[in-house]
Amino acid sequence: MILALIGAFFLIYILFYAILTYILDCDIQLAFYEKFGKSIDKLKGKVVFITGASSGIGENVALILAKHGVKLILAARRENELERVKKNCLEISDGKLSNDDILVLPMDVTDISSHQKHFETASKHFGRIHILFNNAGRSQRAMWEDIDLSIDKQMFELNVFSVLNLTRIAIKHFKANGGGHIVVTSSVTGIVAFPFSASYDGSKHALHGYFNALRTEKLKHNIKVSILCPGPAFTNFLAECFTDKPGEKYGLTTKPTDKRLTGYRCGELCAIAIANELNEAWMGCPPLISFLFLSVYFPNLFNWFVISMKNYYVNLN
Ligand SMILES: NC(=O)c1ccc[n+]([C@@H]2O[C@H](COP(=O)([O-])OP(=O)(O)OC[C@H]3O[C@@H](n4cnc5c(N)ncnc54)[C@H](OP(=O)(O)O)[C@@H]3O)[C@@H](O)[C@H]2O)c1
Repeated sequence: MILALIGAFFLIYILFYAILTYILDCDIQLAFYEKFGKSIDKLKGKVVFITGASSGIGENVALILAKHGVKLILAARRENELERVKKNCLEISDGKLSNDDILVLPMDVTDISSHQKHFETASKHFGRIHILFNNAGRSQRAMWEDIDLSIDKQMFELNVFSVLNLTRIAIKHFKANGGGHIVVTSSVTGIVAFPFSASYDGSKHALHGYFNALRTEKLKHNIKVSILCPGPAFTNFLAECFTDKPGEKYGLTTKPTDKRLTGYRCGELCAIAIANELNEAWMGCPPLISFLFLSVYFPNLFNWFVISMKNYYVNLN
């Protein structure tokens, strides 16, 4: 009888997860925090340093935070795009932010030697930085065996090493100032590997290893770590992808019919996960989250599914 009850409980639990993850555009924890957790308003007055703020997810998170009166450091290479984002952030803040509350910081994150200087510029401007959002990154479309090793290295320079170095600088600042929050944009490809983007999959998996380790070390210093895992979203991502050859970009634009989250919705879910200091958050167009759920509990079934669907995934991430 007891065994039958335990069995029934697990069946109901799995059914509950299967149904919810099939219809939601984020994992169940994030959906719960969206409804019942802390509002993004909680971040009002805080200072957030965003890399990759000139477009896509970074731009959308910046807009959403600005709407709630969060002060911003907008970092990326294209200064004119950062100025455009700053203007839109000031507009959307509706008087909550003034010109000095948003700092445009042109920087190439792969120029590691410049990180200290840029971080000091930002911390001098605001006195204190509360959150570092490591978001800059590029994806890839390529056949595993054709990838030039220099591409793997460039991918890791951008998606991993630049993130580690900037984070190490930020942690010293946080430790000296009573704490802080490190956020990193991984991807669903940081949880499971998808075909035709091996260097990207590898770089995002590496982030999980590094940042899960960081969380275990830094709890006592009041330093929180959040890993954000978006699925496909409408951004410049596909156009900017690495391929298998040095100097080449994939150059594909998304189609309105693609199954992708809007940049705004993705940014909104990221901002909720940041405000609630979630350890990890998954987001993507339904039924993507149910496939991630499948990958955790039924890995063999998931592997069969990914391999049989691999042509579909060429244009996703
Ligand atoms: N869109 C998706 O489907 C998706 C899904 C999962 C994860 N992600 C992740 O989301 C993050 C943002 O991508 P996105 O989709 O928003 O793409 P995006 O629109 O192409 O944005 C990429 C951002 O990174 C910046 N960036 C690239 N190289 C840089 C460098 N060397 N130095 C400084 N900034 C650099 C770009 O700015 P500049 O060109 O001005 O430097 C841009 O602001 C990435 O980490 C990506 O892996 C995206």
